Amino acid sequence: MSVTPKILVVDDEPTIRGMLYEELKHKYSVSVVETGKGALKKIKHNEYDLVITDVYLPDLNGLEILRNVKQLHPDSGVIVITGQGSIESAVKAMKDGAYDFLAKGFSLDEIKVTVENFFKYQRLVKENELLRSELSSRYGIDNIIGTSEGMQRVFETVEMVAPTNATVLIQGASGTGKELIAKAIHQCSKRSENPFIKTNCAAIPEGLVESELFGHEKGSFTGALKNTKGRFELADGGTLLLDEISEIQPNLQAKLLRVLQELEFEKVGNPQTIKVDVRIIATTNRDLREEIAKGTFREDLYYRLNVVPLDLPPLKDRKEDILLLVEHFIEKFSKENDRAIKTLDIAVLKHLYEYDWPGNVRELENTMERAVVVCREQTIQMKHLYFSQDGDIAKKTESAVLLPSGMKLKELEQRFILQTLDEENGNRTWAADKLGISVRTLRNKLREYSEEK
Ligand SMILES: Nc1ncnc2c1ncn2[C@@H]1O[C@H](COP(=O)(O)OP(=O)(O)OP(=O)(O)O)[C@@H](O)[C@H]1O
Ligand SMILES: [Mg+2]
Repeated sequence: MSVTPKILVVDDEPTIRGMLYEELKHKYSVSVVETGKGALKKIKHNEYDLVITDVYLPDLNGLEILRNVKQLHPDSGVIVITGQGSIESAVKAMKDGAYDFLAKGFSLDEIKVTVENFFKYQRLVKENELLRSELSSRYGIDNIIGTSEGMQRVFETVEMVAPTNATVLIQGASGTGKELIAKAIHQCSKRSENPFIKTNCAAIPEGLVESELFGHEKGSFTGALKNTKGRFELADGGTLLLDEISEIQPNLQAKLLRVLQELEFEKVGNPQTIKVDVRIIATTNRDLREEIAKGTFREDLYYRLNVVPLDLPPLKDRKEDILLLVEHFIEKFSKENDRAIKTLDIAVLKHLYEYDWPGNVRELENTMERAVVVCREQTIQMKHLYFSQDGDIAKKTESAVLLPSGMKLKELEQRFILQTLDEENGNRTWAADKLGISVRTLRNKLREYSEEK
């Protein structure tokens, strides 16, 4: 059961005190006080979820109370009551952190709605914090974005597999976040204090792969100028990421198979066997089953690697993640480039949803970085995005509807979704299809919008 929220009402006028008390007492635990100094004393000794205070008190300015509440209990809310027509003090109060204001002469309905809104808002803030801290403690990093079903499944697998030593095979198209997920698995494992070593099997020249993986003795081949540790040895106690495993040559696949089975190997030019404790994560953007069929990948190695398969869905199959990712990238690149971007043109949002993102999250990230760097206004427009494969961009810009700057991306999305639904005459299946999201996601979003009203 939840605890009844506590409200403190501060007003020197008995009628207002009485009115607020009568209106709020049924749902909340309400205390009233008539002087500013009395209020400060109460605030010092109690934590109220919400303080409703008059700005003009005989002994004190209500803004003083606001400052005290914010200092002592930053999570508490303050609603100020201002004299009619004194908008400046209301604005000042909002700037100082008040949640909202009530102008004298307010109705009972206004009180009720404002107070209820505050508690709704507070719940959202708390849920959001909880979600964030859960995510960062669960995954060790809080910069992996994704609320789509596909990504939720990925997170569940990460959570399940991270504490174990099981080998993980991450499959997914280029730019879907394979490396990011591999790092998350390492960071959430017991090995997180030990090294995370990556080797890109596609990038090492053919003759050097063995030495790269297992190390070599000085003089064992031309150019081996000193004893060198291989990736397996460097990763001892930690995690080794074998990136683009499909690119490894057949002769080395056999060697790798033995290492994965025994976790022991020999350096090039030294017969002494080395034993290590390494957790293996492999990634591939090719379908290894196809490679097996073609005869370019060993089936036994595949089974050895595929203990826990983790498939990262392409971005076009989880378009509900786009907006969150866009928000994340705009924030990141605005900070890096000192930009004050507030919103997107609706044509941009439409384009972000309609485009199929063959380069997945990396392509979206690059697109947003470019847009933020180029955009010196508050609104990203189509002209700030450049897709070489789309010659129609300039035309789209002209017809774009500009939204008031400062509009939250969430509101923008709402407008866009409702507009699409309208275009499809209210047919949810067609609208969801056009938007590239599931009907369930669309339904959930519509429900959210109706609750917000
Ligand atoms: N879910 C996500 N949330 C936030 N950023 C992401 C997400 N997925 C990917 N990224 C970002 O996209 C970029 C590409 O991700 P990453 O390098 O992990 O992809 P990859 O699948 O390994 O790609 P490739 O196959 O080309 O090597 C990185 O900058 C990464 O931080
Ligand atoms: Mg990668």
